[in-house]
Amino acid sequence: MKIGIFDSGIGGLNVLDGFLKAGTKAEYIYVGDNFYVPYGTKTQEELEKIITRILNFFEKQSVDAIFIACNTASCASKNLKTNVPIYRIIEPTCVKAREINKSSSKPIALLATNFTVSSHAYDEYLNNIIGVKASAFVPLCEQNLMDTDYAKKVIADTLKDIKGKCDTIILGCTHFRLLKKQIIEYLGPVKIVDSCASFTDILKDLIGKNQLTKDVEPHIIFTKKDKINIDWFNHPYKGIDFIDIK
Ligand code: DGL
Repeated sequence: MKIGIFDSGIGGLNVLDGFLKAGTKAEYIYVGDNFYVPYGTKTQEELEKIITRILNFFEKQSVDAIFIACNTASCASKNLKTNVPIYRIIEPTCVKAREINKSSSKPIALLATNFTVSSHAYDEYLNNIIGVKASAFVPLCEQNLMDTDYAKKVIADTLKDIKGKCDTIILGCTHFRLLKKQIIEYLGPVKIVDSCASFTDILKDLIGKNQLTKDVEPHIIFTKKDKINIDWFNHPYKGIDFIDIK
């Protein structure tokens, strides 16, 4: 099976990481749309246009399914259709969040991009959530600033209102897994719902018996030639291609 996965940049590689660690053998094509990063501060109309290019690209590549490894694009693409199935990351994340928060009386904190929080997409599946607009975290990940004092300050400024108020935290942006350690350091003991991990079970069910018999290195594409912070991605891949997707 050929699986298309995309995000605005490196964040969705966390999803691909989960797929590869789970051992689901498929031909993966990853698109990091760094030409248009960040997605989370754009409008619905802008995002629909941007996302349509990627969906068309995947259709031309004859993928069997598209996994939108981006919460923002999952919200913004609801009205977009393709001839192949599209899987969006939000619903499976909510299933995991409900499970994890079962025994808590405190609200769940949703850390996500400004667009995702404003869209209230998570409220369709979960009660009692506090949305925290955290688009400021995205450049910290894209620019490899995760371990800096500046990142500490941005995290503290963004999360100060939920510190002590919530014990279940949804990382509702695929980039934020790269800041998991720093977020826990600031908030103290909390349970983390990782939107990347929640997607893997869906892929496993889809691929089922159609597994490839051997590993194929994923094809990684970015839409703008730039320095890509990918050192943390610990899997062999076919190198990075830069393609101007129109
Ligand atoms: N990684 C994306 C998400 O899950 C979007 C980050 C951005 O480009 O704003 O929402």
